[in-house]
Amino acid sequence: MKKVLTLTLAAALATTALADHVFDINVSKKGAPIQNTMYGIFFEDINYAADGGLYAEMVKNRSFEFPQALMGWNSFGNVEVRNDGPFDKNPHYVRLGYAGHAHKHTGLENTGFFGISVKEGATYRFSVWARCPQGGTSVLNVQLVDPDSMGETQEVASCNVTIEGTQWKKYTGQIKVRKSQQDLLLRIFLRNVRGQRLAVTDIEHVSLFPTDTWKGRENGMRKDLAQALADLKPGVFRFPGGCIVEGTDLQTRYQWKNSVGPVENRPLNENRWHYTFGHRLYPDYFQSYGLGFFEYFQLCEDFGCEALPVISCGLACQFQNSIRDEKKVHVAVEDLDPYIQDALDLIEFANGDTTTTWGKLRAEMGHPAPFNMHYLGVGNEQWDEKDNPAFTVRLKRFMEVLSEKHPEIKYIGTTGPDSEGWKFDLLQPKMKELGVDLYDEHFYRNEEWFLGKAKDRDGNPINCGALRYDSYDRKGPKVFAGEYACHGKGKKWNHFETSLYEAAFMTGFERNADIVHMCTYAPLFAHVKGWQWRPDMIWYDNTEMFKTVSYYVQQLYGLYKGSNVLQCSMEKKPIAGQDGQDGLFATACWDEKEKAVILKVANVSNSEQSIDLKWSGKSKDIKAGYSSIKVITLSSPRMDDENSLDNPRKIMPKAEYLNKDTQEISIPAKSFQVYVFKR
Ligand code: AHR
Repeated sequence: MKKVLTLTLAAALATTALADHVFDINVSKKGAPIQNTMYGIFFEDINYAADGGLYAEMVKNRSFEFPQALMGWNSFGNVEVRNDGPFDKNPHYVRLGYAGHAHKHTGLENTGFFGISVKEGATYRFSVWARCPQGGTSVLNVQLVDPDSMGETQEVASCNVTIEGTQWKKYTGQIKVRKSQQDLLLRIFLRNVRGQRLAVTDIEHVSLFPTDTWKGRENGMRKDLAQALADLKPGVFRFPGGCIVEGTDLQTRYQWKNSVGPVENRPLNENRWHYTFGHRLYPDYFQSYGLGFFEYFQLCEDFGCEALPVISCGLACQFQNSIRDEKKVHVAVEDLDPYIQDALDLIEFANGDTTTTWGKLRAEMGHPAPFNMHYLGVGNEQWDEKDNPAFTVRLKRFMEVLSEKHPEIKYIGTTGPDSEGWKFDLLQPKMKELGVDLYDEHFYRNEEWFLGKAKDRDGNPINCGALRYDSYDRKGPKVFAGEYACHGKGKKWNHFETSLYEAAFMTGFERNADIVHMCTYAPLFAHVKGWQWRPDMIWYDNTEMFKTVSYYVQQLYGLYKGSNVLQCSMEKKPIAGQDGQDGLFATACWDEKEKAVILKVANVSNSEQSIDLKWSGKSKDIKAGYSSIKVITLSSPRMDDENSLDNPRKIMPKAEYLNKDTQEISIPAKSFQVYVFKR
């Protein structure tokens, strides 16, 4: 601190202009309310975000439904895959028979998602559906094994499960682990019992979960990852994506009805991210739908945030399917009814009373009370062609039916995959005409774009950076910045610099809170051994995780969201890295609950900047004079540094309290700061 922050109005007026800059925070009027939905999360099953990630199931291909039925499994002895099992949508199962000799074994080993990892002292719940189809009894020996062990035994921990009877039943066992280990296998084999005839045994839906899941749920989520989401204090939760909503073809689009009901009978879906990028193929990436729409709504409730489901609009991924093949690959407009019905049924599943078909299913799944869903997105990255209104003609059909039957829901359209350009220009005005409540905008852009300096191919400035929304139509739909992240030019990792630019850019969301109602960074999750796309917000292996700097940026915005925008300017201009503003970006808001003024400042320049704060205007509620000043700083000595599994806390926000008589603040070079001036 070079000089002192002026806190009282009188003192502020007396401040001499010795600082590099003066921020004028006008407290006379509480500006636009900042929506509770403002900062949220976007979930898509990309980078092993669901199976192998948040969804705590440890067995891959648990129902033997992958196209190669034993993918993820090693089999030995007398193993047969059959397809007349107890679950009609997942008919495959495995028959284990006598191996031909008392000293031979029949069984399977599951390789998990990039191996199976366990934690010291943890207990794991094994479960399996099984029967002895020809009668008798068998014992399944269930082991966690370390195949590379140099110890006397490969077994790390185990349990026995006795199977009896010719009817399918669910069996469970507990496996307690003493020490943390990685790269294990789950080995299941028929135990030979001396003097006993070994009964043929059928097994299906083989599952292993830690007992310590988020909220202790059986079909649960990984506790550490769910907690990381809760700690963001999200206001809205978009699900299930992303391109996954659309599918590479319509057969593989996300169909929410397949993701509810008993987990054993949720049919497998291909995961498009298994092959979307040929340079990063993950042939074993499928969607079990174990984390389905019920679990999603439950998470929204846990986090106290709004649900924002997105459904297919009848167009398969437009990047992968030309509209010229409309009849072959997309749903004809006149055949859209089942898709619209899916939307209506989803509303019923979330909100309908328990006498309705879908409300009843929700109750049977354990949640009779409605989930109170208020938002619905139709389509993901769709667009109109210049000669074919492919998306809007379909969206119109949805809107006609949905807005009539459910006027209480807010509907979300899209401005397409680009933040500018012909697709955007064509689509954005049509969203207003169609009367959607919000439109979803996507921008994975470079440093210049985030700093507001990007130009188009002809060298003309484009509407980007923190001023983007200052010029938006105030009478149109509200903005949902549904996918965004700063992608460094040639630097596709989560380094500090790009996160800093995200923080700078986001000041524009807050300043324009009258029209920006939601924003969600994307993608959310990535497994270090299974990613297709980066940067991402949270990374993990099978047991550990780390939060990126982008996570902390999102968290600071979420925790210090405030309730109303306050006008904050520098020489009467928005502070948005404009000429003469020395790389400063800032926004201020009032927090009604905390009775605090919150100032968020990013300094993207190479020099520290001293700021005099001028508190202008008079206010009944927002009085000058504060009892404490807290400042939280996010900075890094090196712009290319990032957090990692080895060093998860390398770059983290640091909080300190300033002397309440401080009269001037200084913003360190290349830093993001949040100031909380509390009365
Ligand atoms: O976030 C990854 C992908 O980026 C999403 O699936 C898609 O909507 C966008 O192109």
